[in-house]
Amino acid sequence: MSFRTTSSAFDYVEDVSPGSGALPPRAWYASSDAKALPLDGAWRFRLSATADAEDDSFAEEGYDAAGWAEVTVPGHWVLQGDGAFGLPIYTNHLYPFPVDPPHVPTENPTGDHLRVFDLPADWPADGGAVVRFDGVESCARVWLNGTDIGEFKGSRLAHEFAVGHLLKPKGNVLAVRVHQWSAGSYLEDQDQWWLPGIFREVTLLHRPAGSALDFFVHASYDHLTGEGTLRVDSDVDGRVLVPALDIDVATGESVTALVAPWSAESPRLYDGELVTEGERIPLRIGFRTVALEDGLIKVNGKPILLKGVNRHEWHPEKGRTLDLATMREDVLLMKRHNINAVRTSHYPPHPAFLDLCDEYGLWVIDECDLETHGFTEQNWRDNPVDDDRWTPALLDRAARMVERDKNHPSIVFWSLGNEAGTGRGLTAMAEWIHGRDPERLVHYEGDWNCRDTDVYSRMYADHSEVEQIGKELDGGTLGRRGLPFIQCEYAHAMGNGPGGLADYQDLFEKYDRLQGGFIWEWIDHGVRHPELGYAYGGDFGEELHDGNFVCDGLIFPDRTPSPGLIEYKKVVEPVRIEGAEGTVRVTNKYDFADLSGLAFEWSYDVEGETVEAGTLSVPALAPGESADLKLPEPPAHEGAEAQWTVRALLASDTAWAPKGHVVAWGQLPASSVVRPSVAPTDRPVRGEKLITLGPASFDGRTGALKAIGGVTVENPRLDVWRATTDNDEGTEWATGIRYSTLWRTLGLHRMRHRLDSVEVGEDALTVRTRVAPAAREVGLTAVYRWTSDGSKLRLTVSVGPEGEWTQPLPRLGIRLGLPEADQVKWFGGGPGEAYPDTHRASMVGRWDSTVDALQTPYLRPQENGARADVRWVELGGLRIEGDPEFSFTARRWTTEQLDAATHLTDLRAGDTVWVNLDHGHHGVGSQSCGPGPLPQYHLRAEPAEFSFVFSVLPR
Ligand code: GAL
Repeated sequence: MSFRTTSSAFDYVEDVSPGSGALPPRAWYASSDAKALPLDGAWRFRLSATADAEDDSFAEEGYDAAGWAEVTVPGHWVLQGDGAFGLPIYTNHLYPFPVDPPHVPTENPTGDHLRVFDLPADWPADGGAVVRFDGVESCARVWLNGTDIGEFKGSRLAHEFAVGHLLKPKGNVLAVRVHQWSAGSYLEDQDQWWLPGIFREVTLLHRPAGSALDFFVHASYDHLTGEGTLRVDSDVDGRVLVPALDIDVATGESVTALVAPWSAESPRLYDGELVTEGERIPLRIGFRTVALEDGLIKVNGKPILLKGVNRHEWHPEKGRTLDLATMREDVLLMKRHNINAVRTSHYPPHPAFLDLCDEYGLWVIDECDLETHGFTEQNWRDNPVDDDRWTPALLDRAARMVERDKNHPSIVFWSLGNEAGTGRGLTAMAEWIHGRDPERLVHYEGDWNCRDTDVYSRMYADHSEVEQIGKELDGGTLGRRGLPFIQCEYAHAMGNGPGGLADYQDLFEKYDRLQGGFIWEWIDHGVRHPELGYAYGGDFGEELHDGNFVCDGLIFPDRTPSPGLIEYKKVVEPVRIEGAEGTVRVTNKYDFADLSGLAFEWSYDVEGETVEAGTLSVPALAPGESADLKLPEPPAHEGAEAQWTVRALLASDTAWAPKGHVVAWGQLPASSVVRPSVAPTDRPVRGEKLITLGPASFDGRTGALKAIGGVTVENPRLDVWRATTDNDEGTEWATGIRYSTLWRTLGLHRMRHRLDSVEVGEDALTVRTRVAPAAREVGLTAVYRWTSDGSKLRLTVSVGPEGEWTQPLPRLGIRLGLPEADQVKWFGGGPGEAYPDTHRASMVGRWDSTVDALQTPYLRPQENGARADVRWVELGGLRIEGDPEFSFTARRWTTEQLDAATHLTDLRAGDTVWVNLDHGHHGVGSQSCGPGPLPQYHLRAEPAEFSFVFSVLPR
């Protein structure tokens, strides 16, 4: 007996099968001569609340849809219509519906799409035609001219239907019914927005008689002989032409020629053509051989080091509908930031993206559209990947990925999917893939025993575990022990961070078995929002959501790089430049390329300003080689601090950046840091209400600084609080520590300042205080000692912890307020932010900015924007020098306001610019999903002393 009332006409929605009616999957390409008719643009659209609310009469010819709304195809309907068509939902791994596979809720938003089209006048009368859907979420039924041609699932996979027999010259009616939820949704539980719709192109393709059905380009490279071997298998016989190699060979036959190989560093593609009786197909052939050899991933005979990112498709207005320009922008940004690999987390991307990877050079892990993560909530019971009924759907997804994408040289790994537990279905997929394409490797992270894979892959393993693995001391199954290791996800780029990148890279470079990794992730999936700027989970009133966990990218939603990307660029730079005492050591860290593509320049910088510059002649070092090069005699200069800065630049234009683009750099100190000195010659004088000392006046009762010269200053005092970062808010898996909770429980965000004494001495004004939170015995003594030589004012802060401090401090320094400040100049680390473990990209120099531009716009406001290793800063009419160097932030709101804000639009400029001058910061880590800061980056509560020298700038 069944209680389900849904009529059988809609059974396909909950059917575990991949669908019916679609043609077998095949390679995706743009034909040179067969006609194509894009069916993009405005479609009629009707939204229903349930799958079965409407019958299929809308698919009939002559149906009057004039009263319907419209949506743009490709597109997600929930991102159109200003909310009239429903709203996006964000969950990380929770299914936003009851877990009762394969059933989905009765409330199942269903979008009927209708498009009427004529064939172009020159559409050939002979041959067949297919209609191709490149991506529809999550399940669609299709009718052409009233005939039901099939239904399918597999949102980010292409589906084609033969329609030639149904077409007519005019008035063709293409009707597509799309259901947000289907059995397929159980296989698509990726951490991203749920966004129904026809989100990739729909195209009508003419298929001339004698045109190719499917073809497979096999192009290998023998690094010992320098020969490439090409064989193109085609379902329809034809010839393969590669003019540059004088190749004209029958399909199915192998031919060998001397070639330049393809690699991500030198992506040499040969233009060719597959010519069959009915069609010419352009080929872009990259010769390369991928192998698992000696326990290593080798391409063209050499182990590669992956410096990768995980890329979801994202556009802040269009969701997963990406145009070519946006895809190209992603690839160019990656190349310009020294990234050499991309994992298409967690589904095959738009096929054009893979063309770009071939063209510009990126190693690709192409991942299948499969994730069943939500089953973890029930201990993986009933996981579809371990239930034979679902295996056909899994195999269909594997085949649709491999067949569509198999001709891309950039793809070195097929990935079975993400976070789907383990099971027979995955094994079946791996077996099928290995059989179909033995020339590539298989990846899957979810099985640490590596039953089905050619690489041991993990996510977010901390540094010490990665080192164990590098040393091959991690044990594991026999099969795993012989495999290379990658982190398919690491360094969670949520908010401020990720910290600890350089420490990972050091390990990857040290141990052969560690072949690199992929940062999680490329872009913040913020949705452009009229009131909030960018929306994240919860902003659309979702019942279940995971907040801003969807904003964890190296670039902001508008694709401006975040500091994390700048740091990554530096950490993975392909040339290391280091040295001391006038000798620079240059090391080539490419896997294949020599250094002939780079030009080297040096500059000699005094107090951050270049006084002399020149070129450095660096031999065309082979990968792994180093050279020690003598820098010229330094110019004479007095007193001030000096550095050498050496840069490696592109020697000529490349496809991805112009000549002069900086690929790598390094700095060598040429003298030591010059510390400010102020002779304490002035005497503090107690007046009626004020104490004066040099240029400064203080409150006579509290000793609080009031002004320096004509600049009013809101009292500088000890500050230990920072607006907690997403990483401070995250839980370290290993230890369960959440810094935000520890710090807030201790009360570090509500410290009270008790005044103990104001002492007017011979040559100093000394103010003694104790800074501590209510309800706790721990505290910090803070002694402020002010001295002056009559024009400069020096503050020395001495901090002493009292009680048992078991936690690190968020920050340690002073905070002061200035009535106005706009332009900011400094000598120190820049131009961007840096924290103890996100520090590599910070270059010592002379920098200019503004208070507004110093802010890093993390989507959820949090501590940001600190400039590190600062010798001096000028802002708001003051010059502030540090002894030792310090970090500073300057903002138009308080830390408390920053801490309370949930979106950038909550931050409103006040009347005061709040400046933090920090002696120390706790590291950033990447604990929002992974390890916290390494111990060497902890800011311990320990006795500390640091000084600042203030002077008034001439107006
Ligand atoms: C991983 C997962 C990603 C993402 C990430 C956290 O477990 O594979 O899809 O959820 O964590 O942002």
